[in-house]
Amino acid sequence: GTARIGVYGLGTMGSALALNMAENDIDVAVANREAAWISPFIAEAGALAQRLHPQDDLATLIGALPQPRVLLCMIPSSAPMDEVIAAALPLLAPGDTIIDGGNADFRATRRRSAELAARGIHLVGMGVSGGEAGARHGPSMMVGGPAHSWAQLQPILTAIAARYQGDPCVAHLGPDGAGHFVKTVHNGIEYADMQVIAEIYGLARHGAAQAPQAIGQMFARWNAGPLRSYLVEITAEILGYDDPATGHPVVDVILDAAGQKGTGRWTVIEAVRLGQSASMIDAAVAARSWSSEKDMRVRAEAALGGARHALELEEDTLAEAFLAARILCYAQGFRLLAAASDEYDWSLDYARIAQIWRAGCIIRSALLDDISDAFGAGVPGAELFLAPAMAARLTDAAPALRRVVSAAIAGGHAVPALAAALGWFDTMRQGWGTANITQAQRDFFGHHGFARLGAPGVHHGPWWAEDSADRPG
Ligand code: 6PG
Repeated sequence: GTARIGVYGLGTMGSALALNMAENDIDVAVANREAAWISPFIAEAGALAQRLHPQDDLATLIGALPQPRVLLCMIPSSAPMDEVIAAALPLLAPGDTIIDGGNADFRATRRRSAELAARGIHLVGMGVSGGEAGARHGPSMMVGGPAHSWAQLQPILTAIAARYQGDPCVAHLGPDGAGHFVKTVHNGIEYADMQVIAEIYGLARHGAAQAPQAIGQMFARWNAGPLRSYLVEITAEILGYDDPATGHPVVDVILDAAGQKGTGRWTVIEAVRLGQSASMIDAAVAARSWSSEKDMRVRAEAALGGARHALELEEDTLAEAFLAARILCYAQGFRLLAAASDEYDWSLDYARIAQIWRAGCIIRSALLDDISDAFGAGVPGAELFLAPAMAARLTDAAPALRRVVSAAIAGGHAVPALAAALGWFDTMRQGWGTANITQAQRDFFGHHGFARLGAPGVHHGPWWAEDSADRPG
């Protein structure tokens, strides 16, 4: 048949998505910058090849598509995306859609949307989560863009999406950058959840002297309960592997220096720009950055001492602490979504976002099932931790988080994300905090003024009494 969609870029994600479409009886035209990749890709596709229509280059790919065209780009999202847009533009007609399916900065997506809209071309910014297996067998997809493009894309994406109890994990979340923003926050939550898992591993390994195998079994047990999640599941599996070359647990031969491609960092930057702080995500990004300073850490251990004391923490206490931290992490993530939704007028549907994160994506978890239920029942102001079901679980689990963080800190174990969770929780559950001191100081040194209990307007402290000189003190 005739191709309904073109996929440009046959890297890991592009080829997996094209095969997924072919398997769902969708005819796909495919092309790649390095044309040599095409024939091995088609050869390996087996019976699916009959739905794949290989093209020599971007121009013939565009030529092979019926109008209005739908061109999915699965390429690096920075400069290469701008180059492909520039090359495609003269070949496209008004009404055509370009989809950027990479991990793009939503600001770039907004810019490109506006530039293309001026030419009558639609841009869709689509977050695709789930790695290679997800793309091949069912990813979670977060779509931002015009309704026109969504109408055309919806049947295709619905066919290839992951399903949670039949419900496809794909949604049109808003215009221009909305999809990429939601994907960025998804990745920020992914970073924080990964960091919390690593911290708990650290407490079990270095605090309780447990072997990786045993810790893996602990995660496997947790994966059968309320902590069930893809990241817990793969951690359990990873910890069970030995390195074939040395016979050591494989985690002991992997350098403890983490990489990052930028989405976690963007989440933190956007949080600050929006007047928020996703402190757990910040801690996770920082922990990756610190981890990569391997040489410095080795020198600092020699200079400053790296003692970590033994801890006595029950497995159930660790599990409860993890659950509390996870609830707080999602709460921070959804606040960020709410802040961006207000700022950019996206009217994000939080329940739908939680729903499409229930399957296919990296952060899929049992807790997300409950979060979608909570949002479905209505959560005022998207304050997830105030939803009755979440507040109750947090009240139950927070004491364990406190015990774990206290013990870890007293014992010299680094738990930046767990500590950030607790710091935020303890701040937010106080109706009367300590910013009165900050306000007094700002007024004292800068005459900035403060709001006063029981009296409207801007006030100054007695240090600025009428008879004092222009500066107090
Ligand atoms: C996903 C992942 C995926 C990828 C990111 C994160 O949702 O499938 O988030 O997009 O793993 O690139 O990568 P970094 O850890 O390198 O930032």
